[in-house]
Amino acid sequence: MTNFSQVQKTNYSEDFLSQEQEYRRELEQFRNKLLLVSSHGPEKARQKHRERGKLLARERIHLLLDPETPFLELSAFAAYGQYNNEFPSAGIVTGIGVIHGRECMIVANDATVKGGTYVRETIKKHVRAQEIALRNQLPCIYLVDSGGIYLPEQARVFPDRFDFGRVFFNQAQMSARGIPQISVVMGSCTAGGAYVPAMSDETIIVKNQGTIFVGGPPLVKAATGEEVSAEELGGAEVHTSVSGVADHLAENDANALQKCRDIIASLPIKTKERPDWKTIQEPKLQSENIYKEIPVDLKKPMNVHQIIRYLTDNSDFQEFKANYGKTLVTGFAQIMSYRVGIVANQSFLTSEAALKGAHFVQLCNQRKTPIIFLQNISGFIVGKKYEHQGIAKDGAKLIQAVANSVVPKITVIIGGSFGAGNYAMAGRSFDPEFLFMWPHAKISVMGGEQAAGVLQSIGNNGDTKTLLDEFEEKSTAYYSSSRLWDDGIIDPADTRKVLGMTLSVCSNQPIGEPRYGVFRM
Ligand code: COA
Repeated sequence: MTNFSQVQKTNYSEDFLSQEQEYRRELEQFRNKLLLVSSHGPEKARQKHRERGKLLARERIHLLLDPETPFLELSAFAAYGQYNNEFPSAGIVTGIGVIHGRECMIVANDATVKGGTYVRETIKKHVRAQEIALRNQLPCIYLVDSGGIYLPEQARVFPDRFDFGRVFFNQAQMSARGIPQISVVMGSCTAGGAYVPAMSDETIIVKNQGTIFVGGPPLVKAATGEEVSAEELGGAEVHTSVSGVADHLAENDANALQKCRDIIASLPIKTKERPDWKTIQEPKLQSENIYKEIPVDLKKPMNVHQIIRYLTDNSDFQEFKANYGKTLVTGFAQIMSYRVGIVANQSFLTSEAALKGAHFVQLCNQRKTPIIFLQNISGFIVGKKYEHQGIAKDGAKLIQAVANSVVPKITVIIGGSFGAGNYAMAGRSFDPEFLFMWPHAKISVMGGEQAAGVLQSIGNNGDTKTLLDEFEEKSTAYYSSSRLWDDGIIDPADTRKVLGMTLSVCSNQPIGEPRYGVFRM
């Protein structure tokens, strides 16, 4: 398993930093934060975990996947900066990896983080992983080791539509569609959590380690007075030989993961078109040089044509309507041999740009070509002239086309994502298959300075500095990723690899015929 980002140390003088140095400094912060959230729970909990003969969640994933294959981890920053940082990665690791050559969604509880219990972001992450699996027909593997709901937070995680119950609803829905649901019980599976293995198609449980019960020993004692040990109530021997709640008995973590691999190997093969990796032409530009092209300061311009050259095979890009509506760049290319349409901002959206975008999105749908949206958008252009020209109705055409597009959409926020521009460029509410952010990227309804100006003009006399600071903090990629507004923060130099992998995942999807609503003329 190769994780895309590793920590690197760089020294900087206090002198003028080049754009590249400035970006590398941003990246160093990103990598340090990533290391922090990826290092599981506190030392004491990790030690206790190991003393029980258990592997850490990421080690389990490593053993489960084919050697030397990448693991696309999702939302590592979930819950970052919340709950006193006591829930690194929200206590659950999710991502896509390859087992016997087949892409699978992995959902692994981290028992070193508050017993693997669920806060709001843990649920969001688990449910989001299932949503991706459902859309892309990925077998789901649950490495279960969890005390269920984190009780102090129960009102925020238990009752609503996309809360804990959704996990089991999704399992039933996927099972009904023939998407395999496999559980490996490697620790506790209590209360609602018991339904993860119980709702699975096949379940493995580790001897003297895994337990499954709808009510644990303390609850049984309180409710009925019966005194029973965890093993006797719902241990591995009980469930594989008495109750039938689990199907396979494993000796330890490694043995359980091997059994899980065997199950995946035995699934019927789903054939899909695979690119010939040997013939893929790498871009003409070195991926690490991309940092030279990215200003950390969003007010500075970025040349998106140049960015595209780092992403596409042979750096080729067949531009569409190059001289019209130039603030939106559209065109066809191949990424890791997958044909794609690219829609990329080169500043704010004008009427012409919106019309061109709507046209191009329809073209991609006609040709069943996935679309990559590269967002760096301050919004739609404002002013009397543009309102009179009907910028709102032209913007609506682009939004109409994007909302009803049926081809896979993958969005990367490579700079700012502000205002309605976020919607038109396939923001989270427009259901892209995946959405990633670069570390310096920002997302909010408008820039902080504009917001301060608007608030002052409508009579809000709050302290401008406080407002700006708050906007700044709440628009960062980390704030977004902590709340699962995206699927993760990625190193810009990894963007091509991440796109290649997600395009491969999306190629499992059946694509229907597009049907649009009214395009206001
Ligand atoms: N809600 C809130 N906190 C919980 C919790 C829960 N459901 N389950 C565990 N925790 C916390 C513990 O208080 C402890 O916190 P601390 O590190 O701040 O002291 C931490 O998680 C680890 O728990 P601990 O019991 O020390 O670890 P363990 O590995 O020995 O046991 C469990 C883990 C999950 C088996 C055990 O804690 C347990 O049975 N929890 C209750 C499960 C339950 O009844 N859930 C019902 C809710 S659906």
